[in-house]
Amino acid sequence: MEARSPARSFRSRDWFADPARSDMTALYLERFMNYGITPVELRSGRPIIGIAQTGSDLSPCNRIHLELARRVRDGIRDAGGIAMEYPVHPIFENCRRPTAALDRNLSYLGQVEIMHGYPIDAVVLTTGCDKTTPAGIMAATTVDIPAIVLSGGPMLDGWHEGDLVGSGTVIWRSRRKLAAGEITEEEFLDAACASAPSAGHCNTMGTASTMNAIAEALGLSLPGCAAIPAPYRERGQIAYETGRRIVEMAYEDLRPSKILTRQAFLNAIAVTTAIGGSSNAQPHIVAMARHAGLEIRPEDWMGAYDLPLLVNMQPAGKYLGERFHRAGGVPAVMWELLEKARIDGGCLTVTGRSISENVAEREACDREVILPYDAPLRERAGFLVLKGNLFDCAIMKTSVISEEFRTRYLSVAGREGVFEGRAIVFDGSDDYHHRINDPALDIDENCILVIRGSGPLGWPGSAEVVNMQPPDTLIRRGIMSLPTLGDGRQSGTSDSPSILNASPESAAGGGLAWLATDDIIRIDLNTGRCDALVAEDEIARRRAEPPPPVPASQTPWEEIYREKTGQLADGAVLEMALKYRATSERTPRH
Ligand code: FES
Ligand code: MG
Repeated sequence: MEARSPARSFRSRDWFADPARSDMTALYLERFMNYGITPVELRSGRPIIGIAQTGSDLSPCNRIHLELARRVRDGIRDAGGIAMEYPVHPIFENCRRPTAALDRNLSYLGQVEIMHGYPIDAVVLTTGCDKTTPAGIMAATTVDIPAIVLSGGPMLDGWHEGDLVGSGTVIWRSRRKLAAGEITEEEFLDAACASAPSAGHCNTMGTASTMNAIAEALGLSLPGCAAIPAPYRERGQIAYETGRRIVEMAYEDLRPSKILTRQAFLNAIAVTTAIGGSSNAQPHIVAMARHAGLEIRPEDWMGAYDLPLLVNMQPAGKYLGERFHRAGGVPAVMWELLEKARIDGGCLTVTGRSISENVAEREACDREVILPYDAPLRERAGFLVLKGNLFDCAIMKTSVISEEFRTRYLSVAGREGVFEGRAIVFDGSDDYHHRINDPALDIDENCILVIRGSGPLGWPGSAEVVNMQPPDTLIRRGIMSLPTLGDGRQSGTSDSPSILNASPESAAGGGLAWLATDDIIRIDLNTGRCDALVAEDEIARRRAEPPPPVPASQTPWEEIYREKTGQLADGAVLEMALKYRATSERTPRH
């Protein structure tokens, strides 16, 4: 253990060494003793470092952290801190009903109360599965104690019958093969299981890999942390280094408020684009920024729209997490963007150094996976922000638009980027599943599939349902995707070029509520407009009718969530929480 005289007094001293309230000190100290920690340690003036443990049997994507925490503790001890590990509300994207989106804000709330109300001086945020990353960052930002992100890392690459099979992406692709009659249900299940060969989170560039890359791009984790696969030796090593570094950060009082500037968020948007990141990055980035007191506007996404896709990883490309890590990971992507001055290298990071210093000499070493800026996988691959009479804001992830889709819908001579189609409207995913193969709907390649009732208030929580598959008859004809639109989200592992996250949602009075099947929708990618071609008086007539029903809340939290949560364009945050900033500056009462 390093000897270090405390250069500053930590907030935990108010619990364990407050001369004015020795009666309370005794009370705070005594129960910690019961597992062998001593009063001398707790009263040594060394920082108490929280390890926010997100791993559990219910959070298999983050379960590796149960192991990694030992290395974090070693690092904390060696650098002169005292570790206190605590459990965080589990979040498991794929399994939580009605959606894990409910858990991000719940975990946020729980983590704020822990970091604020217990004697914690700094924190290691263990992250992995999609929403575990923003939840922890949002909480550390509200409390504003020194915080560092330790990603759990992706699973090893999945292989099935000689092909790479990636998390989620294999499901969407196999689902189409099943519909086309090319595989059996058993083969579907085999391919899905093969995509998950080890501990770790999704190995595609889905929401988990995206959010961990964003944490690193924001400057909140050690360089290279995001992409190291969970079982690799470097993962344990970076856990140790992260533990060491957070102790130094506690002494330096290096808090999120010093790192999370507007420029840091713009860097994160640029990185999200270049990696072909998940469309879920939009609400999460907006949410983290708003908790930091910053505003991210639609123009900020459009500012990165012209950036190229550099990372050849599923679902936009071919490879998976192991190759991305070996190619150089996030530092190599940032190196590329920095060379072209598309990110700000001056932003401060948890290392105490700038982005430029962190990624110097981190050029990619595998150009098949991280392509040069001037010879990318795809040009202009950013998120397109759309608006119109159906919503004020929705996005489209253009990096996943296939050539087949582009040719059919977006490159027709004389109307480049403009598409008009007949709307087929579904009220939630049950309705979609019941009716998608109904011949009466007469769905053909000139239709747009629309789903409503899938936003934060309608679902509740906002569901990943917009990547709707065409009817089986179309798939058998080789039409693998139709234009889709909705007020919900879609999985970051999906290769569907949907218009999604439409805000306001139908349940909040958005235009999707009055849209009807057989209305014509015009999408113009050049102007960023998406409108239903319905006359004003007809819209007014339909608006006077009762809106589509939403299911009743089934739990107390669903009801609270619906009362307090805003729209996806605004990050779907607990709006009342935004006024609480830097709560650690006022020590909680005895
Ligand atoms: Fe947890 Fe993808 S489901 S990381
Ligand atoms: Mg997801």
